[in-house]
Amino acid sequence: MKKFLAVVLALMFIAIFSIVIVADVHAAGYIGAKKCRICHLKQFKAWEKTGMSDSFENLKAGVKVAEKKAAGLDDRDYTHDTACLKCHTTGYGKPGGFTSIEETPKLTGVQCEECHGPGSEYVKIMKKNKKYKIAEVKVAGLILPSENEKDCMVCHGADSPFTEKVDTKYKWVFKDRLEKTHKHFLLKHKH
Ligand code: HEC
Ligand code: HEC
Ligand code: HEC
Ligand code: HEC
Repeated sequence: MKKFLAVVLALMFIAIFSIVIVADVHAAGYIGAKKCRICHLKQFKAWEKTGMSDSFENLKAGVKVAEKKAAGLDDRDYTHDTACLKCHTTGYGKPGGFTSIEETPKLTGVQCEECHGPGSEYVKIMKKNKKYKIAEVKVAGLILPSENEKDCMVCHGADSPFTEKVDTKYKWVFKDRLEKTHKHFLLKHKH
């Protein structure tokens, strides 16, 4: 009986502990690229020129009809199609992320936070202290994309209708893609 109680207590402890951890990770919400623009104008401008910034447009009828056809997709309105939204918007299905074009019009396309993580918490640290330590912003949710290719493959992997099998122009080469995300600039401070 004592052993049983100990096991139950241990399980309860683990359960409570995991809730705390999960709650912590989920605390960060999406704020949208315009908020990052205030402090990172150069990266914003470079990103804005890529297809990621207006990627939502590609879900509209009459846009990229030939490319859709080659990938086996009819020409119709996909802007409310959940099968497409998860890859063509920011934070879809996550707390504070894109829900619909009507409710969250500022989170269309593949924005900063798709690669760098939801910003509400790490931005507070960047704002307060330009010489923040990299470990503190990471705990607050910042992601350095070059550290985990898997984060890209959620969208660039086999679930995408636009893979190398359709056209070699969609071939995934991690190193090349990292460079093409936006122009990169040296940071002023060591973190
Ligand atoms: C939420 C899904 C998603 C994630 C995560 C994602 N991408 Fe993408 N990416 C896209 C979509 C969609 C496009 C196509 C944009 C368009 O409609 O033309 C794209 C396009 C790109 C392009 C081409 C941009 C251009 O037009 O010049 C690069 C480079 C790229 N992604 C790199 C990456 C890297 C590197 C990662 C991981 C760090 C990543 N992506 C993660 C969805 C995603
Ligand atoms: C699993 C993620 C994923 C899903 C789901 C997804 N896409 Fe995409 N889509 C991508 C990625 C990644 C690219 C960019 C491919 C590249 O540049 O290598 C892309 C590119 C596109 C393009 C531009 C192709 C070009 O050559 O410029 C169109 C149009 C598009 N997607 C439409 C759709 C539609 C419509 C749906 C829903 C039926 C959809 N996508 C679902 C990830 C996805
Ligand atoms: C497709 C992925 C992707 C998107 C979207 C993206 N970034 Fe980045 N970002 C990177 C990569 C890759 C690096 C280089 C750091 C690394 O290797 O992990 C980086 C680095 C940075 C840096 C460090 C300095 C520099 O220029 O390298 C800043 C600041 C930054 N990004 C801001 C932004 C902002 C602001 C946006 C949105 C306007 C954005 N990023 C969108 C992938 C992305
Ligand atoms: C109030 C200003 C401010 C805002 C808003 C802001 N940042 Fe930053 N960010 C900074 C400062 C300051 C640095 C450090 C710059 C340096 O050392 O040159 C930084 C650094 C970064 C880095 C580099 C991380 C590293 O140390 O390698 C990334 C990536 C980044 N920010 C992404 C973002 C993203 C994404 C957003 C929006 C969600 C954002 N930032 C919003 C001020 C800001």
